[in-house]
Formats: sequence, structure tokens, C-alpha cells
Amino acid sequence: MQRLSDFSATVIEKESMAPGIWTIKLKPEKLRLRILPGQFFMIRAWSSKDPFLFRPFAVSGKNPDGSVDISFKVVGRGTELLAECERGQKVLMRGPCGNGFPNPLGKRLVLAGGAMGIAPLLFARHYYENSIRTLLLLGITGEPEWEPFSKAILQKFPDTLLFSENGMIGRKGTIVDGLAEILDENDEIWACGPEGMFHAMGKIEERWTLPIWVSLERRMACGYGGCLGCAVQTREGPKRVCADGPVFRLKEILWDEP
Ligand SMILES: Cc1cc2nc3c(=O)[nH]c(=O)nc-3n(C[C@H](O)[C@H](O)[C@H](O)COP(=O)(O)OP(=O)(O)OC[C@H]3O[C@@H](n4cnc5c(N)ncnc54)[C@H](O)[C@@H]3O)c2cc1C
Ligand code: FES
Repeated sequence: MQRLSDFSATVIEKESMAPGIWTIKLKPEKLRLRILPGQFFMIRAWSSKDPFLFRPFAVSGKNPDGSVDISFKVVGRGTELLAECERGQKVLMRGPCGNGFPNPLGKRLVLAGGAMGIAPLLFARHYYENSIRTLLLLGITGEPEWEPFSKAILQKFPDTLLFSENGMIGRKGTIVDGLAEILDENDEIWACGPEGMFHAMGKIEERWTLPIWVSLERRMACGYGGCLGCAVQTREGPKRVCADGPVFRLKEILWDEP
């Protein structure tokens, strides 16, 4: 286990993607960071002890000036404070954490994001833009808050295949319905989203022999494997989502185990 050191970064841009959803550009003082799609940073944008812990966020983009994009939805105190950051403000970062997605093998990389889970896949899309064929899918529920977010994604990536459960935007259905329609035996799937989406994707893995890699989310304290607070059960025993993951083969995960 390698303890990752914390470093400072400056907020250099902040963009509202939709109500309650932001993308911020953070310029770390350590500029030579090698970051793979699927890796994440632990971030602390507040100096008070409440909240006490850093919060984990995937990298949704990396820019030529060395800055990284973090796209996030406000769900509680930590994300609220991150959203309040203004340009020039300093935050603390730890990372890059985790394994990231493996080198792609398939002829086409299908990137399937459930709602905010699309964040690390936006980076993957950009990272492989000039080397392999990728297809980006976004699936959302019928809650109106996701409509402006979907439009923001479409504006940046117009060829995104969009699915909404009630048909309010894009095709009607879940992202798993969409995958079942478009998959090809040569595809490889990388996915991030709510756990229910992964359960449904298990059926795809049973039917097709495609490799499916998923990026899991767990509450995290340290982010480097030291506290064992983020364990998930796998066929090879318990693993730490922050250090052994967050990316796992879908078929490795034992969802029903505590
Ligand atoms: C590897 C990783 C990458 C992530 N990347 C992103 C990202 O790119 N964009 C983004 O918006 N969010 C991302 N998250 C989730 C993000 O870390 C949480 O939303 C954030 O920690 C919430 O902090 P808070 O203080 O605002 O909310 P809290 O007050 O801590 O919690 C508010 C609500 O969110 C739930 N929650 C908090 N943390 C998590 C978590 N890790 N997993 C599931 N539910 C949680 C709580 O159960 C509670 O219901 C990621 C999580 C992980 C583990
Ligand atoms: S968050 Fe500490 S071991 Fe994963």
C-alpha cells in the first residue's frame, strides 16, 4: 500500500452543466500527473473539519495546460462546498487514485454511463478519440433534472446515444435496453453508474461473451487502501474499491455478499 500525498490545486474555471451539476477545472501544483481514464482524485475544498473526509471524484477530462476537469452533482455538504468554489480558490487533492480502466482490447469501445456515472467515460472518450472507435451512451431516469444535463452532454458529444426511462429525451428505455440493441460480438464495454444498472448488465454478460468493465462507487475515507472502508466482495475475496478498483470485471463482483 502506498500512501498518496496531498497537494494543492487552483480552481481555474467553473461551468454549470445543469442545475446542481458542475464541471470545475482544477490546476494541480504537480503538473506532471499521468492519469488514466477511470482513475479518480480525493478532493477537499474546505478548511473546516466538517465534513471531515476528502470526497472521491472521477476525472472527466484532462487539458493541455495540465488541469483536470471534475464533473459532479451536488448531493450533500461536500459537493455543496465544492460547488461554491470560485476561480482562484485553492483545494486539496490526493491522487490519482485507483487502477483505471485496462488497455482496451476490442474493436469498438462502448462507453455506457448512467446519469452522473458518465463522468469518467467522458475522459475515456477524449483519451482514445484518435486511436480507437468509441461509442458513448448516456442513460437517465425520467426525473426532469437530467434533461438539461443530457443536453449539455449532447452539445459536447453530439453523437452520444441517449436513453431516458420515460422517453422525455432521446430514445425511450434504459441504457441496458440500448446496449442490447447496438452490441456487436467485437465490442468491449466500460460502464459507470448506479448499482442497479450493473445488475441489469449482468444479463448482457450472460448472453454475450463481451468483456464488461465497471467502475464502482463506494463511500471512501483514505482513497489509497489504508482504512479498508470501501471493500466489495469479489470471487477472489474482498477487495478495496479505492486501491484494487474502482474498475473491476463485472463478473468478478458478488453483489449479494455483505
Ligand atoms: C471512485 C469514485 C468516483 C466518483 N466520481 C464522481 C464524479 O465524477 N461525479 C460525482 O458527482 N460524484 C462522483 N462520486 C460520488 C461522490 O464521491 C459523492 O457524491 C460525494 O462523495 C458526496 O459527498 P457529499 O459530502 O456531497 O455528500 P454526503 O453528505 O457524503 O452524502 C450525500 C448522499 O450521497 C451518498 N453518497 C455519498 N458518497 C457516495 C459514494 N461514494 N457512492 C455512492 N453514494 C454516495 C450518501 O449515501 C448520501 O445519500 C464518485 C465516487 C467514487 C467512489
Ligand atoms: S477508502 Fe480507505 S481503503 Fe478504500
